[in-house]
Amino acid sequence: MKFKVLSSLNILLTGGVSTLLFLGGCAGDNTSPGIEYAPDMYHSVAYDPLSQMEANPHTKDGKNLIEPVKNTIARGQLDYVYPYANTPEDYERAGNELKIPADIDSSEATVAEGKAIYLNYCAVCHGENGMADGPIVAAEKFPAPPAYNSDRLKNLPAGKMYHSITYGKNLMGSYASQVAPKERWKIIRYIQTLQKQ
Ligand code: HEC
Repeated sequence: MKFKVLSSLNILLTGGVSTLLFLGGCAGDNTSPGIEYAPDMYHSVAYDPLSQMEANPHTKDGKNLIEPVKNTIARGQLDYVYPYANTPEDYERAGNELKIPADIDSSEATVAEGKAIYLNYCAVCHGENGMADGPIVAAEKFPAPPAYNSDRLKNLPAGKMYHSITYGKNLMGSYASQVAPKERWKIIRYIQTLQKQ
């Protein structure tokens, strides 16, 4: 008997508290989320890296996301460092000094890989075999580049090619944002086979 009374009291109490909580959740300002259960789950105790809302007292500029120190190189991206400027002098220097990295060999597999990338990005103008007969040139939508086996390009050193792919040259735009350094060298391995045809 006693047990029954207690348990009904319990139900009453629990029911009452839940109703209160439930109503509390809805009441008042409708832009407020109401009572939050375990607020730490919603509001991170740690500083939110992208938040503009809370100034961080520990950083100089109050930002949470600290910018990397000038000249920082991201891990694994050392080959993106390119010490030559986009000037005619540095074009010459790159031609004299820059060599294809040793790990980009001239094997058939590397040349085939270079060709696949070349077909994606370059053949539209230069043509599959570098004869300046790509579809947009053939359709007269873009002026023809010189063929790779032409007098002008057949002895072009790899360093100059890399420079031109990185910065672009005259009408040709830069491919630095689309083709990674290693891929540029692989393409060059393929172009070198076209220079000799
Ligand atoms: C929109 C057309 C177009 C595309 C796409 C294009 N090129 Fe070119 N490319 C040209 C033109 C035009 C020239 C001639 C530039 C000049 O010397 O005036 C040229 C020149 C070159 C040269 C000779 C540069 C030099 O130093 O004389 C190389 C090497 C070359 N392109 C490689 C590439 C590679 C590799 C790609 C793909 C990643 C590519 N091109 C994509 C139009 C294009």
